[in-house]
Amino acid sequence: MALFVDSADADEVKRAMELGVIYGVTTNPILIARSGKEARQVIAELSEICPGPIFHQVAAGSTEEMLAEAKTFSARLPQRLVIKVPCTLEGLRLVSQIGEETPCAVTAIFTLAQTYLACQAGARYVIPYVNRLTRAGGDGPGLVKTMREIISESEAEILAASLKSPQDVVSALFSGAHHVTAPLKVIEEMAKDQLTAEALAEFAAAQDEPS
Ligand code: G3P
Repeated sequence: MALFVDSADADEVKRAMELGVIYGVTTNPILIARSGKEARQVIAELSEICPGPIFHQVAAGSTEEMLAEAKTFSARLPQRLVIKVPCTLEGLRLVSQIGEETPCAVTAIFTLAQTYLACQAGARYVIPYVNRLTRAGGDGPGLVKTMREIISESEAEILAASLKSPQDVVSALFSGAHHVTAPLKVIEEMAKDQLTAEALAEFAAAQDEPS
């Protein structure tokens, strides 16, 4: 039930780590581009801030190109780097080649067929895009639920991504996700509730009352 922060922004990851509830960091090419820095610099910075696993998504390309990038990055952060690859034939081939020595995550999963192939390739994590599937008219939490059944015989674990609200996070966990990754904004929202705010206001009012 580990919680990951989905971010490539060092300041944001620092704030997330200070909460004391984050296990690791997931990144993707969009988040890296938004940081305005090179991927190698981002991963180096994040690994200084977070002692847990850091997920780096290799750039799409041939298996050989992805393999070269995966080896370079995992050599810089042995034990802690998880190689993320999109669910493509080239990506699956990469996982089958390095999955035993380097943990791999197959990402952008939307079907059970993709889940099955990722497990057969040797993925350590399978990453469904939960909210994106629901936005496209599908059933994100429903996918997670059936993924959990299909992977029961494998060693892969479900890391649910594309979670846009506290409710998305809870639905993914309730549907059987082993782990979740979410933006810091969503993680911060998870601590809040209207009734909590009202209780706090009552506590504050009581403190202000003359004794
Ligand atoms: O980290 C990948 C995933 O969370 C992206 O999802 O829905 O924002 O495209 P989405």
